[in-house]
Amino acid sequence: MTTKLLDGNLLAKEIKNEISKTIEKKFLNKNKRIPHLGIILTGDNTASITYVNNKIKECQNIGIEYSLKHLPINTSEKKLLEEIQKMNQNSYIDGFIVQFPLEKHINQDKIILSINPKKDVDGFHPENFGKMALNMKAFFPATALGILTLLEKYKIQMSGKYTVIIGRSRIVGRPISILMSRKNYPGNSTVTLTHSNTKNIECYTKKADIVIVAVGIPGFLKGKMIKKGAVVVDVGIHKNEKKILGDVDFCSIYGKASYITPVPGGIGPMTRIMLLKNTLIAALNNRL
Ligand code: GUN
Repeated sequence: MTTKLLDGNLLAKEIKNEISKTIEKKFLNKNKRIPHLGIILTGDNTASITYVNNKIKECQNIGIEYSLKHLPINTSEKKLLEEIQKMNQNSYIDGFIVQFPLEKHINQDKIILSINPKKDVDGFHPENFGKMALNMKAFFPATALGILTLLEKYKIQMSGKYTVIIGRSRIVGRPISILMSRKNYPGNSTVTLTHSNTKNIECYTKKADIVIVAVGIPGFLKGKMIKKGAVVVDVGIHKNEKKILGDVDFCSIYGKASYITPVPGGIGPMTRIMLLKNTLIAALNNRL
């Protein structure tokens, strides 16, 4: 079977142009400040630094202002909470994120709860997360939104289909399971959320029309675990000395799936662009 690629780079470029046009029309032409994203990064985790640098590049590319607060690895929880309050109160900052993971001495729940939900462009605060689950207007986490938007663009039928998600993280697995199962478009799928404690995962994945893999293990999903014609979404990204790998064993899936997201160039660019779209929405909500 011919496997087609779900091209995140291409769609992210289209969305980028739409965002730029809106910024021109609603902010620049009206002599208003352009949208402004705040980023708080703690410590020296290489992957986090790369993610943040990519987010900054995207801001520069698109014409969104950004402020980066890079705090040392030993920053106390108190100090981090103070920095969050500064971003909450700074009227120049439309939305901001605290890059995860955090160091072990910091309580992640306290951090998420301290972010003003109106500026929570990651969509991790319980107010946004709860609204998302209740099908209300809210900020949705960027990766989940990116997956939905990409599937929608390629006219992948979700309604009435069986979707299996691997991984239950707050950042990807849990939110995409909520969005895919909503009585809404896109969504309306029958969803199973599998995770590290699921026995015989392949019993589920083999039946799935859509498999979304966000498990953080390189090459986890193999061709023998899916049915012919399934749509496969790979959220993972891992670098070794030779190449970049996803959570999907691309070679054994290619030729069996109907569609697959490449790594790189699939969900990564979609995640970054959705964060900026959320920032634009925050600026529109809070200032116009
Ligand atoms: N770490 C990995 N992905 C994300 C994300 O989408 N947002 C934040 N804040 N941290 C992350």
